[in-house]
Amino acid sequence: MKLCIVVGARPNFIKAAPLVTAIRKFQKKHKDLSFFILHTGQHFDVNMSDVFFNEMKIPKPDYQLDVKDGTTHGRQTGEMLMKAEEVLMKERPDMVISIGDTNSTLAGALAAAKLNIPISHVEAGLRMYNKTLAEDVNRVVTDHMSTLLFTPSAVGTKNLKNEGFPKSAVWQYGDVMYDALLQFDKIAEKTTKVYKELKLKTKEFVLVTMHRVENTFSIERARYILDALVGLSKEIKIVLPLHPRTRNLLKEHSLFEYYSEHLTIIDPVGYLDMLVLEKHAKLVVTDSGGVQKEAFYQRTPCVFLFDVTTSWKELVQLGWMTEVAPKSAAQVLRALKKALHAKPGKKGNPYGKGNAAELMIGKIIEHLKKK
Ligand code: UD1
Ligand code: UDP
Repeated sequence: MKLCIVVGARPNFIKAAPLVTAIRKFQKKHKDLSFFILHTGQHFDVNMSDVFFNEMKIPKPDYQLDVKDGTTHGRQTGEMLMKAEEVLMKERPDMVISIGDTNSTLAGALAAAKLNIPISHVEAGLRMYNKTLAEDVNRVVTDHMSTLLFTPSAVGTKNLKNEGFPKSAVWQYGDVMYDALLQFDKIAEKTTKVYKELKLKTKEFVLVTMHRVENTFSIERARYILDALVGLSKEIKIVLPLHPRTRNLLKEHSLFEYYSEHLTIIDPVGYLDMLVLEKHAKLVVTDSGGVQKEAFYQRTPCVFLFDVTTSWKELVQLGWMTEVAPKSAAQVLRALKKALHAKPGKKGNPYGKGNAAELMIGKIIEHLKKK
């Protein structure tokens, strides 16, 4: 039984880590179980890729496709598809595991589908029901090519039911990001550097991440958020590990220095540092799918800055997250000030028990043994 795990972007690496741990566990019992990692190269800076392999003990990719070109989605996805197909033709895995909703997720799954190799989709069923969002398209198409669909919660399962997927294809095991957090949280507290280097104090700073195209396609739009953060910085320290997309935008408009005077802008940090920052922040402000959930796991309130409502609806229902569609700096600032003093949300975790990856790999093995 040979499995292929496809990764390419930062969130893929983090979600792959618990899957690798689970495979290693099953290998003790199933001597014929093997796997290889295919990295598309979508993210390539050391602090956007290598750091996660090192910190999370993910084996070095067996294949690095080196597709760095993000000029257009079609070009990026197309190049990944061509190169992934070559690898899959050579390796002929029994199952391709595609994770999440990035262009790498879609390209890996599409390459497998064209070769009649079955696909397991980790984080299936989530929807924003908006065809202008690349991630929504990637997720819907990947779901419809997959044999096994692993949903993180009841919301995803219900969406797939409504779309007519057979019950036998859909497995609700929880969120692999929760598995990862449980696996690494304790180590993170021990090894953290950034929290100490910045001399941060618990609940005395706001952690921000921002990279979505919808918030960075124009400098005017990005400034709704950044100017609001400058306003909030009069009240509390703002720490912003900046994604290369947003950094490039600020540099292009010669605004990097200006915002650095008001906000603590740092390079993207590793996963372990990120977990500690999320835990100790008073508030997390983000447009990231992964960061909003980790804030919840760390019991830190969160503001999600996006035009379209989150696919992680439970975070809002449980009262841990507010959603804000940025319309102006003044409006965003008002929302952030309000959130800064909001009460914590309710107890409970709808995203599984922290053993999602193990259940997924177990199901994949069961499926392959039956064939
Ligand atoms: C991608 C995903 C998005 C995910 C995000 C996670 C798609 C369609 N989008 O968006 O869903 O939330 O990753 O971070 O797959 N860049 C660098 N160095 C890097 C990585 C990127 O300079 O290591 C630059 C690229 O050259 C490009 C820009 O950042 O100019 C955007 O990268 P890209 O991977 O195309 O999209 P993301 O915004 O990262
Ligand atoms: N992350 C990180 N360092 C950073 C910013 C984010 O390790 O500087 C991690 C974060 O902890 C989470 C994941 O990256 O596990 C989320 O990925 P990202 O925000 O890039 O993408 P999204 O989840 O929106 O697709």
